[in-house]
Amino acid sequence: MAANKKLLVLAGDGIGPEVMRETGRVLEWLGRRRAIRFDIEEGLVGGCAIDAEGTPCSDATLARARTADAVLFGSVGGPKWDSLPFEQRPELGILRLRKELGLFANLRPAVVFDALAEASALKTDIVRGVDIMVVRETTSGVYFGEPRGITKDAAGKRHGLDSQVYSEDEIARVARVAFDLARKRRNKVTSVEKANVMQTGRLWRAVVGEVHKAEFADVELENMYADNCAMQLCSRPKQFDVILGDNLFGDILSDLAAALTGSLGMLPSATLGAIDPLTGKRHALYEPIHGSAPDIAGKGVANPSAQILSFAMLLRWSFGLEEEAKLIERAVENVLTGGLRTADIMQAGRARVGTSVMGEAIVRELDKLGG
Ligand code: IPM
Ligand code: MG
Repeated sequence: MAANKKLLVLAGDGIGPEVMRETGRVLEWLGRRRAIRFDIEEGLVGGCAIDAEGTPCSDATLARARTADAVLFGSVGGPKWDSLPFEQRPELGILRLRKELGLFANLRPAVVFDALAEASALKTDIVRGVDIMVVRETTSGVYFGEPRGITKDAAGKRHGLDSQVYSEDEIARVARVAFDLARKRRNKVTSVEKANVMQTGRLWRAVVGEVHKAEFADVELENMYADNCAMQLCSRPKQFDVILGDNLFGDILSDLAAALTGSLGMLPSATLGAIDPLTGKRHALYEPIHGSAPDIAGKGVANPSAQILSFAMLLRWSFGLEEEAKLIERAVENVLTGGLRTADIMQAGRARVGTSVMGEAIVRELDKLGG
């Protein structure tokens, strides 16, 4: 085996540390049964980092993230930090990591697990078989555009300002990730914007079209207004393969897509940077879609699946360990089929279990599948 792979683990706040603990069992399993080992560093991010280090993502944590092969991230935020000034909020921890590591392509799969199709708020026949990948831009747009702020006019009235800014290169590079992914899936990209009312939307549509024509003409491209996409996701979600959106529309639509699967606690994500032409490496961060869920934190009832599946994405995207990634995904699915449910996905007639029983069951299933 080559040199150990370097991971930075940032469990964060709320249920983050609990679900990360279960992921630790899977890591341990890989070492024990497959001789795949990682050098693991742990760090603080979000609210716990504010408490201990005075900032949601310290320079030292950022430096360690830079030298790691991949970052495994939990979740940040909670009521304890809600009243802090805007510049000190826990959420800035993840925003800083995305921005400074250049993590521009956020991949958010929304997959309906067969065993959970009935848990969706939508009719089962509408959602069964849904398999969508939302590709969201995460280093630019209205999240970072300048100028921004709250100012007062001469009459003392306040004005809030955010700027939605995109360069054509920022659009083109995330579009390439989406088209590339589509080729490995069902070969279709739906690109969303509001080209009818926004200048950035006009540019978005134009640049995506140019990249498509020049490099990916074999992939089907559909342009759709973001509001229409929200509606179509609820009425006919199976038409979608890859959805490509900017930072804000991608944020909203990926939550929507995740919710229609009925299993927010099951969904992972990856955020990737550009491939360094010299080393062939890229920065990457992996995190569950669910947040820190402060209402259930510390109770041992959170679903560890999304965190464990985020780790599977890490194996696939950062280390090319496709076989192991698939094993983990199959183990999670088999545990569901076997009838175990955490509270978030509980259904009548199933066995309700807590975080650690779920984690143990997944490792036991791994033993069966690939021990
Ligand atoms: C997400 C979250 C973040 C975002 C928050 C926590 C800043 O909603 O990852 O989707 O808006 O990007
Ligand atoms: Mg979000």
